[in-house]
Amino acid sequence: MRFSDSFVQEVVDRTDIEELIGRYVTLKRSGSNLMGCCPFHSEKTPSFSVSPSKKLFFCFGCQAGGSVITFVQKAENLDFPEAVEYLANRAGIPLPRESEDPTAPKGVSRKRVLDMNLEAARFFRACLFDPAVGGEGMRYFRENRRMSEATVKHFGLGFAPNSFNALTDHMHRLGYSDEELIAACLCGKSQKTGRAYDYFRNRVIFPIIDPSGNVVAFGGRVMDDSKPKYLNSSDTPAFKKSRHLFALNFAKNDCAERMILCEGYMDVIALHAAGFSSAVATLGTAITPEHARIFAKYTKKVIISYDSDEAGQNAAKKAMRILGEVGMDVRVLRMNGAKDPDEFIRNFGADRFRRLLEESKTGFEYQAERVLAQYDLAIGSDKIKASGDLCSIIAEYWSAVEREVYLSYASQKLGLPVEVLKNSVEQIRRKNKRETVARESREAQASLKNFGDRINPEASSDPRAVAAEEAVLGLLILFEEYRSAVEKGEIPLSDEHFITSFNRRVFCAVMERHASPSGFRFELLGADFEPDEIGRIEKMEVARRQLSQNGPEVFRSAVNVLRGISERKEKAGGDLHSHLAYLRSKKANIHNRKD
Ligand code: UTP
Ligand code: MN
Repeated sequence: MRFSDSFVQEVVDRTDIEELIGRYVTLKRSGSNLMGCCPFHSEKTPSFSVSPSKKLFFCFGCQAGGSVITFVQKAENLDFPEAVEYLANRAGIPLPRESEDPTAPKGVSRKRVLDMNLEAARFFRACLFDPAVGGEGMRYFRENRRMSEATVKHFGLGFAPNSFNALTDHMHRLGYSDEELIAACLCGKSQKTGRAYDYFRNRVIFPIIDPSGNVVAFGGRVMDDSKPKYLNSSDTPAFKKSRHLFALNFAKNDCAERMILCEGYMDVIALHAAGFSSAVATLGTAITPEHARIFAKYTKKVIISYDSDEAGQNAAKKAMRILGEVGMDVRVLRMNGAKDPDEFIRNFGADRFRRLLEESKTGFEYQAERVLAQYDLAIGSDKIKASGDLCSIIAEYWSAVEREVYLSYASQKLGLPVEVLKNSVEQIRRKNKRETVARESREAQASLKNFGDRINPEASSDPRAVAAEEAVLGLLILFEEYRSAVEKGEIPLSDEHFITSFNRRVFCAVMERHASPSGFRFELLGADFEPDEIGRIEKMEVARRQLSQNGPEVFRSAVNVLRGISERKEKAGGDLHSHLAYLRSKKANIHNRKD
């Protein structure tokens, strides 16, 4: 639903930005701002700033930025209206009634996709339970995978017939169009005819259900060895695979003590069937920081229970780091005699698995044991390598207490004095710190470039013009008097003076907002721009805010630069192409003069 400007403003006004963001990030006061480590990219030196007076945030590292609404959009995976609703609920502001909504949203809405998914899930389930259609699927679950009927029902499993139109026809009968079915990723689009066809065919189906009970996506597995083994829904308006976990709808009720993270759908189902209902899996992707934040929302401790092969163990190491970064107590489970939890339980039973859970190792123990298993400590050169590896692992820990504990463990295992190991750890830490600072600034620079390019692809065409555009926009956002001056024509500036279409769009949005009854408010831009775009706009504002010289003469001169550039551009023939040619010839002239 689309909320009125005044409602959005009320929600923003009644949200305490410090309290809201403080629940995700530890903030420390720095002048009039608050600083912390950015929740949207991984960093160890704080570059995330919050301005309580302006109610805006900005990350100097990854350029995420915007209002409290933008923050909630990014942190909770919501679109603009959903984020407004979320904050309204939080602040106890009653929502306006649906009938007051004048403009229905364009495109296929999240709600519509969820409705389609629910119908599709019913259809797949009916197929599975119809022996004439889904007999093979049911046999696969019951016999090949040894599932009980109760488990099949509990997970709402289904079967997609071997047909290009079974689901499509069914959904047409319910009134859904080809376009909608394709948007929901229930159908593919035929290259030849442009028509929709069933995306999942001749596969058993795993519905992905979110904690609120919505069917957000599907996974489908072949029943033999053909490829691809699993087919998963692509991202849709209701689903982003980096932000969902399989079986979280059940696990959320049993997560108080800990959660179990597996690789596959089948592992999760086997664990739940054996009584471990806190198991979840990512959906055909490696775990992301977004997943880690979901875990942090539900529990304090995660036991990683990945496949026992090399790939699984390497993935476990990565998962350990990502979960560690959000402050989880992370354990890793080691399995012998089975390739994954599903097989382990089938071979050895639930009690043995429970014991594995109890014996699961902390990240350090797990890594240290892997190192020690590689070397023969009786050999001098091996012992040196082992101590080097262990010290590197210990050096990664930020807490001095943890380092002390692990140092004494290493000293005991290696038979070397603690002091010697400690010196080596401190040396590694100093080196790592230098490297971290260098890397973070490199990454920030790189993301700056890419970011600018992606949001404003024309930005590299004429850096001087773009700098002027951004200065003008930053000042317009900061100061009402400049907006009025432009509106009244006291300062001659129009959208035609903008070379890049992104900045032109921003200019139009700012001036439109200024002219509207509610006036310009930064947070209202969120209705017209994506969160990444908002970050870019916020950057313009922050860049100006940091400068002391923002007087009218500065604004006028930035406008003049812009007008000068666009006039020359006009003379040179109007379009961007010839403008570039003009710039090149000018550069060539300068060179010629130098020669
Ligand atoms: P596995 O190959 O370990 O699958 O992939 P599994 O769950 O153990 O499956 P079974 O036991 O052979 O039936 C782990 C996960 O990776 C994703 C799926 O989410 C799967 O559960 N995956 C795997 C895909 O998305 N596509 C594939 O082709 C394979
Ligand atoms: Mn498996």
